[in-house]
Amino acid sequence: MNILMVAAECVPFVKTGGLADVVGTLPKYLKQRGHDVRIIIPKYRQIDGAKFGLEALPCKLSVFVGKEQENFRIKTCMLDGNIPVYFIENLRYFNRPGVYGDSSGIGYGDNRERFIFFCKAAVEAVKALMFRPDIIHCHDWHTGLIPAYLKTVNLCDGFFWNTSSVYTIHNIAFQGSFEAASTLPMAGFSWEDYKSDKLEFYNTFNFMKAGLAYTDIISTVSPTYANEIQGPAGKGMEVVLQTRKKDVFGILNGIDYSYWNPRYDRNLAANFYAKDKSGKKFCKKYLQEKCGFKVDDKAFLLSVVSRFDMQKGFDLIIDSVGNLVKENIQIVVLGSGDRYIKDTMLYLKSLYSDKLAVFTDYNEPLSHRIYAGADAFLMPSKFEPCGLSQIIALAYGTVPIVNKTGGLSDTIEDFSTNTLKGNGFVFDFYKGESFEYTVRRAYDIFKNSFLWNRLTDNAFASRFSWDNSVQEYEKMYDTAAARKIKDNIYNKNI
Ligand code: ADP
Ligand code: GLC
Repeated sequence: MNILMVAAECVPFVKTGGLADVVGTLPKYLKQRGHDVRIIIPKYRQIDGAKFGLEALPCKLSVFVGKEQENFRIKTCMLDGNIPVYFIENLRYFNRPGVYGDSSGIGYGDNRERFIFFCKAAVEAVKALMFRPDIIHCHDWHTGLIPAYLKTVNLCDGFFWNTSSVYTIHNIAFQGSFEAASTLPMAGFSWEDYKSDKLEFYNTFNFMKAGLAYTDIISTVSPTYANEIQGPAGKGMEVVLQTRKKDVFGILNGIDYSYWNPRYDRNLAANFYAKDKSGKKFCKKYLQEKCGFKVDDKAFLLSVVSRFDMQKGFDLIIDSVGNLVKENIQIVVLGSGDRYIKDTMLYLKSLYSDKLAVFTDYNEPLSHRIYAGADAFLMPSKFEPCGLSQIIALAYGTVPIVNKTGGLSDTIEDFSTNTLKGNGFVFDFYKGESFEYTVRRAYDIFKNSFLWNRLTDNAFASRFSWDNSVQEYEKMYDTAAARKIKDNIYNKNI
């Protein structure tokens, strides 16, 4: 199949969270299975053109955002030597210090215009490139307009005659909802389109609703989240999802085990793997030194690597830090994003600096050292579509402590001292007490080296590889493609 991924982020070029990991990794597995996969993302200032060998294609293109004609260029390079990546370059929209907003965590005021432009430009770019996709796979709200264009503005465009769309929800909390009257003409839709109940959401114009309503197939990133968002966790979209129930797929993300591999990871003080964990002790010592903690193998070293967002359970972490550090427990936090969380974590650090370390940047090498050096990984998310961090932690033999929600339920099983099964600790009542109780339960098991050793073996043995999920994606693409052919026959007199 010809598969085009369109997204706002992609590793190794630009990343603020797991979306980038998925968009940069899934194509490699699709490629291995013989598909022609290509990727379109914006050319942000952060993407280092020289480092990645970006070349500009000789075409100059433009689209309208409202009445403004916006010119753009396409730059390109290869991912892994065989996956073409196309970067949409427009300096006005993407030559900025941040990806979505400034360093205080507030989004840019013109994100609506930026992603209308990006959606339109992606549709034009694929035509200019003469790459006829069987599937356009769109990710999150930033690309929600593309399935809508294919079924409205571009409906009679023969170029897309055999193109089906798949729309993946990575996080239903970010929907891209804007004032309708000005957005409609800016995006190029009519009031008739709006009244069709496919763009409107509580009197606003909603990018995600456009994606969900117009796409051929909908997916999200874990089976449990796929069910949850058809109920109260749907943030208002549950009704839309229920009406398309048969078209909703839940496919668990994987991680790239060649990249997240403590045996060969060059960021680490020492390497280790399941059969020889001795290097992990050096990594722990390194991390304790880096954090200014007492170097003590008996201290229970907890970690967080996360976007600063209340989704991730920071209210529980903030409330429990003071109690936890009374024990021989140390906590290292790496995160960036929300200003309130950042300031609060830094304040707590000023109170407990011998037990709590807080790093407030986006730091890929440090994240590896934390995954490797910590004993346990805290992810008490209020909701979690999939979560990659807990899967990465497992790969480094670091035990996740999680809330039972979304993809965390699908990946982490509570450790049982009877059966010795389970790869982490799970609580299922989103309250400070139950989180703290679960951390203490983990700490008790940590003190028993036989049990802890068994548990870390289970963590190392847990594999969430793309090899399984890629086959589910293929089945989903087949379903989408079949649907499109049927639609064409049905619409043949257009
Ligand atoms: P989300 O996409 O909701 O942020 P995931 O668990 O799916 O959550 O993915 C988070 C990804 O971002 C992981 O690869 C994690 O290591 C990485 N990450 C998050 N915050 C940071 C940070 N401050 N520095 C480095 N990596 C980070
Ligand atoms: C989102 C979700 C996260 C998921 C990631 C990749 O950012 O919050 O749970 O793992 O997308 O799909």
